[in-house]
Amino acid sequence: MTAPFLKIEQLAQRFPSPDKGGDQLTVFENVNFGIEKGEFVCIIGHSGCGKSTIMNVLAGLGEASEGVVVMDGREVKGPSLDRGVVFQNYSLLPWLSALKNVTFAVRARHPGWSKEEVKAHSYKYLELVGLTGGAEHRKPSQLSGGMRQRVSIARAFAIQPKLLLLDEPFGALDALTRGSIQDELLRIWQGTDLTVFMITHDVDEAIYLADRVLLMTNGPYARVAESVEVGIPRPRSRDEIVEHPNYYKVRNHLVHFLARRSKELAGKEHASANGQPETVRFPDPQDEASERDEPVRPTLRAVNE
Ligand SMILES: Nc1ncnc2c1ncn2[C@@H]1O[C@H](COP(=O)(O)OP(=O)(O)OP(=O)(O)O)[C@@H](O)[C@H]1O
Ligand SMILES: [Mg+2]
Repeated sequence: MTAPFLKIEQLAQRFPSPDKGGDQLTVFENVNFGIEKGEFVCIIGHSGCGKSTIMNVLAGLGEASEGVVVMDGREVKGPSLDRGVVFQNYSLLPWLSALKNVTFAVRARHPGWSKEEVKAHSYKYLELVGLTGGAEHRKPSQLSGGMRQRVSIARAFAIQPKLLLLDEPFGALDALTRGSIQDELLRIWQGTDLTVFMITHDVDEAIYLADRVLLMTNGPYARVAESVEVGIPRPRSRDEIVEHPNYYKVRNHLVHFLARRSKELAGKEHASANGQPETVRFPDPQDEASERDEPVRPTLRAVNE
């Protein structure tokens, strides 16, 4: 078996105790998982279990207490333009305009490009997130939270990384903008070999976007317990996805994990001997029927659709 594009092995993060002489805080340990090239993976877990900490390590901005991260056969050490990051708190340069926040990154990525090329490329991505027509000249402090988040998304997309790391990127957006940027993200991702790792709290967003959803138990001593395969064919449409026979099976599994099992499994050892998350797969009833050469029963549709 070939190694996955991104491999996380035995990752652990421990912090010194905030109280003098107290025990150190183990946020997570024994975190193992792999992501294939071109895969779209979401991770879900309760607040404080360590998702952003894992993402910082993947970005090369934080160092884990134990374990290794290997991308494309090389250990991740320090940041790189091969990895584009959208942080939970946007992390824009406050003294630069929205446009310059993007051109700054594009220039670093393509040092040989002319000023015009850099600008045109940056505009393309700002347009994609609906931030042109004057807003691009404003500084972050003059933008709303949702607009700042969109600048941050444009900047990450514009450097065309191999790995896109997204920490709740759509949290501050209204439903309409959120939907259209999710679709843009899928459009950018589809048909390329871009690998996406995204943190979200929204199970419907995870099912709509991801190939697989990783589930983290509660901290301290959190770990990635399961890898749930979404198994719904692409391209997916927002209206039709809910009619897929697996949609509510996957959804119920994720909700149940968050509501109960994330707590029940907290602090317990991995069920598997190799420390890898357990794979959860719901067979597609349509595939099962076709394997048995049976006619597939059509799903019911609303009469007035
Ligand atoms: N530098 C630090 N020193 C001490 N503790 C820290 C430090 N950074 C993070 N932590 C702790 O690590 C834990 C995980 O934090 P992290 O931000 O990764 O959680 P998260 O899963 O992203 O949560 P959320 O969903 O709320 O964003 C928290 O309990 C946090 O208090
Ligand atoms: Mg976080």
